[in-house]
Amino acid sequence: MNVSSWPLAGILAASITTAQAADPVAVYTKGGAKPAAMACVTCHGAEGEGMAAAGFPRLAGLSAEYMQKQLADVASGDRANPIMQPIAAALSPEETKAVTTMLANKPRPDVRPVGRDDVVDGPGETLALRGAWERNIPECVACHGPSGVGVGESFPPLAGQSAQYLSSQLNAWRQGTRKNDPNDLMGHIARNLTEDEVKAVSAYFAGLTETGAGR
Ligand code: HEC
Ligand code: HEC
Repeated sequence: MNVSSWPLAGILAASITTAQAADPVAVYTKGGAKPAAMACVTCHGAEGEGMAAAGFPRLAGLSAEYMQKQLADVASGDRANPIMQPIAAALSPEETKAVTTMLANKPRPDVRPVGRDDVVDGPGETLALRGAWERNIPECVACHGPSGVGVGESFPPLAGQSAQYLSSQLNAWRQGTRKNDPNDLMGHIARNLTEDEVKAVSAYFAGLTETGAGR
């Protein structure tokens, strides 16, 4: 083979790679290749901060693996949601990987630090920092991290989300429309909460950041 053909082969290979890799900014702001993969920006906000009043969750700073799991669960129906289902199902694996990686690298909100030893005031803070062990409910921060900032790939942040979104998810577990959690960890907890406790603990975590509180 003529040596001078090698650079051309390199350019060709590079352009094929570019054609296959998804542009995360394009997916986020314009949508995926399939029309049903609607632009995320419409509902999840310019910077992935979510829309508190509408109950659209924050995506900026969430773990990419967690978001990929959620999109797969939404597409399969293990996490039933009529708005997100067609979108999740229409995203290609490349688009999903690209957009979730970009979002994971966006800044997280400032969170008010709280300690497990803090004096607790009211039902929301009590559940968050102490749990209700007589009903087998561990304190939320045991899995969701100090101040509910999230831990690793499996435990999503609660701080930074709105009260509307947090309570909608707890209610989805109570009603059995979200059943994608390992070992029914969250389903078990949510079904043991009263309606007032769902409201109180959601308001508590939302109040730890400015984004969650919708300010
Ligand atoms: C029409 C509005 C809308 C659009 C457009 C939209 N989403 Fe969503 N998204 C939602 C809603 C509503 C939820 C909450 C679903 C639920 O309650 O289970 C959600 C949830 C999610 C979640 C789960 C977050 C969590 O904390 O568990 C991810 C990840 C997500 N969307 C990614 C995307 C991506 C990526 C796009 C763009 C390709 C997108 N969404 C476009 C409305 C939208
Ligand atoms: C034993 C561990 C554990 C404890 C304790 C726990 N959680 Fe969770 N929680 C999880 C896991 C795991 C998930 C993610 C499930 C999945 O993969 O979708 C989750 C998800 C959530 C979500 C959905 C977040 C999102 O972005 O969609 C909410 C809301 C939530 N938990 C609230 C709470 C509250 C409130 C408490 C305390 C009353 C609590 N959790 C205690 C393990 C736990």
